[in-house]
Parts: sequence; structure tokens; C-alpha cells
Amino acid sequence: MSQQTVTPADITARALASFDACESPRLKELLQALVRHLHAFATEVELTQAEWEQAIGILTATGDITTDQRQEFILWSDTLGLSMLVDAMANPSPPGATESTVLGPFHIDGSIPRTYGESIAERPGGSPTWFSGHVRSLDGSPIAGARLDVWQNDETVNLYPVQDPDAPEQHLRGLFETRDDGSYAFLALRPTDYTIPEDGPVGAMIAATGRHAWRPAHLHLIASAPGHRSVVTHFFDARSPHLDSDVVFAVKPSLVRPLVHHPAGDPDAPPGVDGEWWSCETDVVLVPEA
Ligand SMILES: [Fe+2]
Repeated sequence: MSQQTVTPADITARALASFDACESPRLKELLQALVRHLHAFATEVELTQAEWEQAIGILTATGDITTDQRQEFILWSDTLGLSMLVDAMANPSPPGATESTVLGPFHIDGSIPRTYGESIAERPGGSPTWFSGHVRSLDGSPIAGARLDVWQNDETVNLYPVQDPDAPEQHLRGLFETRDDGSYAFLALRPTDYTIPEDGPVGAMIAATGRHAWRPAHLHLIASAPGHRSVVTHFFDARSPHLDSDVVFAVKPSLVRPLVHHPAGDPDAPPGVDGEWWSCETDVVLVPEA
């Protein structure tokens, strides 16, 4: 009896065939495509055993550093462009609608409802920035009772409150509802450019490949309304130097907003603002559900 040598192609074929009897067509498709592409990747780059062991170590470290407050797997997805790719496929945006972008790892549930014009800052510091506008449907009609879930970082510490053990629990986040005419307004702080966490395996990748870890300054929001598709997005500060090189590829030109500067003593200053401040007037446009 002749003995045939097992080739790399034989191994791929066996791994693919192991899913042939899978009863879920979608699960079968996902796992067979995963095997096919993983094997093609390893073949293309002639993956060495040492590199494979290093990759296992990186995945292990990714799990080890991940907690309720720190999601290193999302960082991998974001910094490899996968999050934006999945988002783009899931949320095609017709012209005129507010485009989506990544959720990011710093959103937390349980923000408190706030009233029209209320400040989301729960401690002093930062540059007051008044965000206002209307939530509209794609045909331009205002939407009453639309919900905005907003969150941002703090220029005084360059951190999201979830990263800062000293921050008040509800600092720099809140839930707002549009008024009967679809209008919304809230007092935030001027967001600042920040680096994604660099002390884990993603940071090591960024350093080893000569990339930078910066994200351009932005306000996060999730807008939702009955009968409409929710949108997860950001508004980016037009003056950021990192708009063209966001480490997570999240910038879309339609989401860049100029922040208008107002000097101290401006009679139109929002309540409680004495010094200089900024403003951003922008609508959020939602797509009706089919
Ligand atoms: Fe962010």
C-alpha cells in the first residue's frame, strides 16, 4: 500500500470539510470562509511557527487586558479598519442622511436624561461648547421626541470619564430629547484629540509599525427616533490636525463640523458661561425605516 504525503492543501480541504454537515447554512458559510481565508493568509505570508506562536501570545494578552472598562478586542477591530468596514456594510446612508461611524469602546449605558440646554459637565474645567440644531427625517421634517445619547472626553485630562476613576459618574454624558419642533441643545465641552490606549497589545502594534495612536477631536452621539433607523456617529472638530489620519479610520467628510469661537462677554452666551465659548449648530438627519 502506497503512502501519500499530506500536503498543505490537503489540510485546508479537511478543515473545510469538517463543517460540511453543519445544520446552520450561515454558520457553515462563516466558518468555512474563515478557514479558507486564514489558510490563504498563512500560505501567502509563509507564516512561520515562531510568528504563529507570537500571534497566539498577542491574542492571549488581548484577553488578559480586557475588562468591563477596557475592550482591547474592539481596539483591534477599530485599528485594523474592520469596525468601519462592518459599519459601512450595515448602514448604507442615502444622500442627506447623517452618516454613521464607529461606536468606539467608551460608550456606557445608563446615562441620565437631561433637559434642553443642560450641561453634561459635572465638574469645572474645559471650554464650554454649545451644540444645537434639529433632528430631522430625511425629507427635512423635524422629529419631536427623538433621543440623543451623547458622550465625549475632557480636554482637562484628555480622558473619557470611564477611564478616569476620579470623574463623577455621569460626567460628560447624557440623554436628550428633542422638543416639539425637533430642536435640541446641550452644553458640552470642546472635545480634544486623544490617543487610544497604548499600554496593551494594540499599542505595541501601533508602535512597531510606525503608526500614530491619535484620534481627531469629536463628540459621540447615538440618535434614535420611532420609525427611523438609529445612527451611531461622531461630530468631528474641523480644526483637528488628525482628520486625515484617524487611527481607527472613522472620519467621514460629512461629519466634520466647524466650532465657532465666541469671546468672553458675548451676550448670547449660554446660561452659566462667563468666559469664551464655542458653538456648533448642526442637524441630525435620520432615515425612515422601510
Ligand atoms: Fe471618542
